[in-house]
Amino acid sequence: MASKTSSRSSPPLRYNEIPNGIQGRGRWRLSLQDLKTGDAYFHECKILFTAQGLLVEQNYPKIPGLETFKGHVYHSACWDHSVDLKGKKVAIIGSGWTATQIVPAIAPEVEVVKQFIRTPHWILPPPVIEYSDFDRWMYKNVPLAYRFHRLLVFASMEWNFRLFGLSRYSQGQRDRVREGAIQYLYGKAPEKYHELLLPDYQIACKQRILDSRYLTSLNRPNVQVHKEKAIEITPRGIKGSSGIHDVDFFKGMEVLGRNGVSADQHWDGIGGIGAYNTTAMHNFLNFFILLGPNSVTGHTSAIVAIENTVDYALRVLKPVLRGYASRVEVKERSEKEYVHWIQAELRQTLWNTGCTSWYTSNGWNSMTYPWSQLHYYYRSRVVKAKDWDVTCTTNPLSLMKLHALILFLVGICVGAIWKDMLEQGFSSVWELGGGGRRLWDI
Ligand SMILES: Cc1cc2nc3c(=O)[nH]c(=O)nc-3n(C[C@H](O)[C@H](O)[C@H](O)COP(=O)(O)OP(=O)(O)OC[C@H]3O[C@@H](n4cnc5c(N)ncnc54)[C@H](O)[C@@H]3O)c2cc1C
Ligand SMILES: NC(=O)c1ccc[n+]([C@@H]2O[C@H](COP(=O)([O-])OP(=O)(O)OC[C@H]3O[C@@H](n4cnc5c(N)ncnc54)[C@H](OP(=O)(O)O)[C@@H]3O)[C@@H](O)[C@H]2O)c1
Repeated sequence: MASKTSSRSSPPLRYNEIPNGIQGRGRWRLSLQDLKTGDAYFHECKILFTAQGLLVEQNYPKIPGLETFKGHVYHSACWDHSVDLKGKKVAIIGSGWTATQIVPAIAPEVEVVKQFIRTPHWILPPPVIEYSDFDRWMYKNVPLAYRFHRLLVFASMEWNFRLFGLSRYSQGQRDRVREGAIQYLYGKAPEKYHELLLPDYQIACKQRILDSRYLTSLNRPNVQVHKEKAIEITPRGIKGSSGIHDVDFFKGMEVLGRNGVSADQHWDGIGGIGAYNTTAMHNFLNFFILLGPNSVTGHTSAIVAIENTVDYALRVLKPVLRGYASRVEVKERSEKEYVHWIQAELRQTLWNTGCTSWYTSNGWNSMTYPWSQLHYYYRSRVVKAKDWDVTCTTNPLSLMKLHALILFLVGICVGAIWKDMLEQGFSSVWELGGGGRRLWDI
């Protein structure tokens, strides 16, 4: 996809596979709209990837009275740059990654910033890697040095996966990291906030935050933190809600597969949001979701997961890209089995033990991957043919016949050479140069 994001007022994009296609070609049809001119148009394609992103649209909390507030109110995903915050009284609701980056960033210019925290997050010191000029030179000029460094970064991030299990080992590891986080909190934040900022749930159940000078910024006299379980907004301020995040896939666009089945109808049919190998859905032919259901990692880069999905999709699509096939489609049963397997595995992880986060909704986790990214790397390198239906353009029987013929001809050639070698003796074949040593003699 190569268009700009939709604004909230723009009509949804519709992806539409027409069973008999325009002129019976069975392709995807995209209903698009140019957001500048308003012009609507169609685009057709054979293969469709969606790279819509998960965290693009704002998820407004349902806080009573929000619409009555007389000042400026906006969501961090839609920052209003026209508002000058200098010297203003600002309130921030939330304590996740975003809030902990906004507080230290605006604190120096506002009159006062009041942060309202419902659930504190575990905050860890950020990893600091400093790159010298020599490092930069080496990564640019020494073959494989950059790749090796990337591997080391990947491995060190992957190491955090040990925290998500429910075994005694994982518990012990969490306890150690927890101790470190507590010491870090006590060392950086003012004492009056120590108790308030200490989470009462296990570390890593919600996303851990890597501190970006947030804790230090709490020492400023114009920064105040309030812990409020329920918040109400009045025209002039905040009184002190709840609500669980529900992350929608394909927010702002409608994707219709074969026979017009929508993604929501599809997910209702399998029991919840999910996709085979995090990317493919039955009835959605030649269609792949990047950063799809259960591809979020919680401990390492989302880009790694996206790269593996692309690799996997290209492997599955190989027959289509080479022109032997027109469509690939994951089998209904394979997808269902995969999705329920993932959910069963996720029930053995920390994420599903009760803390609220945008990963889970009513006990169904449509966000995180239950195994390490090494596991996903491996799964993305192997295409299980039994899980896929491939519609061939070339008759597979005639392809097999062609391959058999080629093999037969190659066999005749090899046989003829072999016969010749036996007759002449191996010694002459393996002789090194004119007077060289013989490798072996028969
Ligand atoms: C503030 C923030 C910080 C983050 N930091 C990290 C991090 O440090 N490490 C990490 O691994 N992950 C991080 N993430 C998660 C992040 O979502 C992914 O790392 C990464 O951006 C995902 O890439 P993407 O290409 O799938 O989606 P995006 O980068 O979100 O891109 C999606 C694109 O699709 C476009 N789009 C959406 N809907 C439509 C539509 N209907 N029509 C046309 N275009 C559309 C959007 O405009 C956007 O350009 C962060 C997320 C946020 C919000
Ligand atoms: N790497 C980075 O630099 C970076 C930076 C920003 C974002 N991100 C990514 O973006 C994701 C989202 O982060 P985020 O901080 O924007 O969102 P988030 O982690 O979902 O945090 C939302 C915060 O708002 C609070 N909240 C929601 N509704 C509320 C209500 N009605 N009343 C009071 N409080 C309410 C939540 O409290 P509860 O916890 O009690 O629900 C939580 O503290 C992260 O998990 C991360 O993947 C990454």
